[in-house]
Amino acid sequence: MGLKDKYEPYFKIGTAVNIRTIKTHEELLRQHFNNITFENEMKYSSVCRAPGEYNFTAADRIYEFARENNMTVHGHCLVWHNQTPGFIFENTTPDDLKETLREHIRLLGNRYGELAESWDVVNEGIEDKTDLFYRDTKWHRMYGDNYMDGMFMIAHEVLPGKKLFYNDYNESIPEKREKIYQLVKGMKERGVPIDGIGLQCHHNIYEPGVDGLKKAIERYAELGLRLRITEMDISVFRFEDRTHLAEAPKELMERQAELYEQYFELFREYHELIDAVTLWGPADDTTWLDNFPEPGRKNWPLLFDVNQEPKEAYHRVMNF
Ligand code: GLA
Repeated sequence: MGLKDKYEPYFKIGTAVNIRTIKTHEELLRQHFNNITFENEMKYSSVCRAPGEYNFTAADRIYEFARENNMTVHGHCLVWHNQTPGFIFENTTPDDLKETLREHIRLLGNRYGELAESWDVVNEGIEDKTDLFYRDTKWHRMYGDNYMDGMFMIAHEVLPGKKLFYNDYNESIPEKREKIYQLVKGMKERGVPIDGIGLQCHHNIYEPGVDGLKKAIERYAELGLRLRITEMDISVFRFEDRTHLAEAPKELMERQAELYEQYFELFREYHELIDAVTLWGPADDTTWLDNFPEPGRKNWPLLFDVNQEPKEAYHRVMNF
């Protein structure tokens, strides 16, 4: 029995995959996951390298993998400040850019809409370092406050019947949590077609902890929307820490296992609100945290180890 089977009564179990891991982790993916997010291959600058020129080769391959294995897809992501080609903002007007975006979403929706029931419409639009509310992005500069309303309207028109999400990180840190809450509350009050909030959950074994996450889930739940855990991993280092370790220390792995256990217990408690819990990668042999925030520093943030074998954390999540 895999994770996805054990959690069938609760929510989908997702992971981020890429063009490489659908081969290197094929068996693991098949056994444990029933929803996938394309790590990069669906992002704007991955599919569109020059104005109006699209190449879907890599994304198509991952999509086929999902289809062959009866997995659904979480579309990621439509409006973001990163991995978005700068040329779409050049020599354009706000109205024309909307048409460009509409066409972009239409192309993705037509191609991947059958398996992609849910989409991150806007990713990371809230500022988390200063007192500003919105992150200063080209999107915000073009349209000003409330710019996400229009993005969700377009997505709603072009992707009818799909669940539309706002997705962000530091979602459990009180200041940012409140900003995200206010953002989405405002959208709901203005009648914007938003269905849910994606909690990225790039956490570490020290913070925000299960209480922080619980408060975030409860706060967002007040909005009466769907929730997804979209990019979960639990780093063994504090964010500021730049230590390198040759191996994963046992006591840190134990602490991580406890935390995963508590997190999944919490998710089960709130399963009626949660559509999916997605890990940001299948196993510890390939994780973006090996290069972030410290390039070349090994990390072990997931449920399967560098040999793709179940970790203690996995057993804790499975045995309840
Ligand atoms: C953000 C994005 C993801 C991914 C991660 C880092 O959280 O939403 O698509 O790029 O950063 O891998």
